[in-house]
Amino acid sequence: MKLYLSRDAAAKALGSEEVAEAILSEAATRGIEVSLTRTGSRGMTWLEPLLEVERDGVRHGYGPMTPEMVPALFDGALDGLGPVEEIPFFARQNRLTFARVGLIDPLSLAEYEAHGGLSGLRRALGMRAEHIIDEVKESGLRGRGGAGFPTGIKWDTVRLAPVERKYIVCNADEGDSGTFADRMLMEGDPLSLIEGMVIAGLGTGATQGYVYIRSEYPDAIAVMQEAIDIARANGVLGDVMGSGRRFDMEVRVGAGAYVCGEETSLLNSLEGKRGVVRAKPPLPALEGFLGRPTVVNNVLSLATIPVIFEKGAAHYAGFGLGRSKGTMPIQIAGNVARGGLFETAFGMPLGELVEDVAGGTATGRPVKAVQVGGPLGAYFAPAQFDTPFGYEEFDGAGGLIGHAGIVVFDDSADMLGLARFAMEFCAVESCGKCTPCRIGAVRGVETLDRVAQGDASAVPLLVDLCETMKDGSLCALGGFTPYPVLSALRLFPDEFAAQQEAAE
Ligand code: NAI
Ligand code: SF4
Repeated sequence: MKLYLSRDAAAKALGSEEVAEAILSEAATRGIEVSLTRTGSRGMTWLEPLLEVERDGVRHGYGPMTPEMVPALFDGALDGLGPVEEIPFFARQNRLTFARVGLIDPLSLAEYEAHGGLSGLRRALGMRAEHIIDEVKESGLRGRGGAGFPTGIKWDTVRLAPVERKYIVCNADEGDSGTFADRMLMEGDPLSLIEGMVIAGLGTGATQGYVYIRSEYPDAIAVMQEAIDIARANGVLGDVMGSGRRFDMEVRVGAGAYVCGEETSLLNSLEGKRGVVRAKPPLPALEGFLGRPTVVNNVLSLATIPVIFEKGAAHYAGFGLGRSKGTMPIQIAGNVARGGLFETAFGMPLGELVEDVAGGTATGRPVKAVQVGGPLGAYFAPAQFDTPFGYEEFDGAGGLIGHAGIVVFDDSADMLGLARFAMEFCAVESCGKCTPCRIGAVRGVETLDRVAQGDASAVPLLVDLCETMKDGSLCALGGFTPYPVLSALRLFPDEFAAQQEAAE
């Protein structure tokens, strides 16, 4: 009997370890031989723990599983979900970055290679550095951390820097609320991140890499560390595939400050300093880690590199919409019937993602607002649901896609309270370096409290404060906090005015 069960942190939180134990003990009692492969998650979180049973080469799903359901499974009396890859949420995706996640044992190099792993690296090893960069530029890949800066141009800046020692730093400090794609990728297919970092090294001339992972991700840290050891033992790291080109890497664990997801703050933390934002310029691409040219890329940007080299830039660029090329692993969370990871070509309208893919709210009440792009992202109302998922399209609608987290709220959401939360979050997480953020966020909370108490004069003051934070903050934390606040005010003005009327 061939079984597969996720070892992803979300599946574990939902009881996959207990299910695994129950399967092994039931099999032992019945004298049945089972092979239980622990995989990453398929991303259908509402079905976790999702058990897959292979029959005639097809994996059939059962979930959410409980230990109590295991005897019925062995009796053949358990209703299943049918072939996992035919479940509509899964079947309608374009899985490029996440192609292997949930499918293979994350720590099996043999399975990785059997599913296309290392073919991108082998191809890159036969290319000159400038051609590697050209391939990345032609793919249209843009930074998946949120800013959407063209990855090939960033790499080229590092390649052309006339300095000997260069670095590749992977930003795995995934701190946005409602995002989990970096974690899932590291837990489910860590070798793809390693392969992407090695190719980045070949393209830029960097010989050392670091994966900076937040301490709240113990499973991802453990899996990444083990995968790096496996890659080194098998010649993927060190003398890369026996080519005479060197690249090695290690994991560094952050202490959990949100602002350390900002690249310069991350670099300070990586150097053992306090995680305070540095002014730009100089760009990290020219003066980054230890003052050397450094590529700082998000997990998803780097983990997408292998498939670009395996299938070719044109294949990747064939997906998407306008300047948003390729696919995006979208994370759907909050009040939804079906939450999880949905990788799709850019261009799907927001409403289709929320109403159709995610099935609307879990409470069954109407959707009131969705926040896209983490705690600094704007709110979108159903009237904007025709906005296609893309960098420029969201920018044009007054928001941002950020790291592509979507958090859904039903009609019971308190938008004034959520606006206050944004300011409070900024006040707590501010690194304190610049005044508009350090002081502005605290004043923002106070001003929203005045609005809540019915002070009409506080609303224009709030707008003014938001403009100052947007224009005067040194980094995205202070600069983007006004997005959720102003979008809530713009979309739901009555909720801000209602407080005033109630007080009168
Ligand atoms: P940015 O626009 O300043 O820079 C984007 C990237 O391009 C940086 O790595 C920068 O160094 C690089 N760059 C810019 N010009 C360059 C050039 N000429 N050559 C080489 N590299 C160049 O944006 P920033 O502040 O790095 O990121 C802001 C974004 O971060 C926001 O859009 C937000 O969505 C996102 N964000 C993501 C979070 C997460 O958890 N993933 C958390 C918070 C914010
Ligand atoms: Fe620090 Fe906030 Fe200024 Fe960013 S905006 S540098 S987090 S004080």
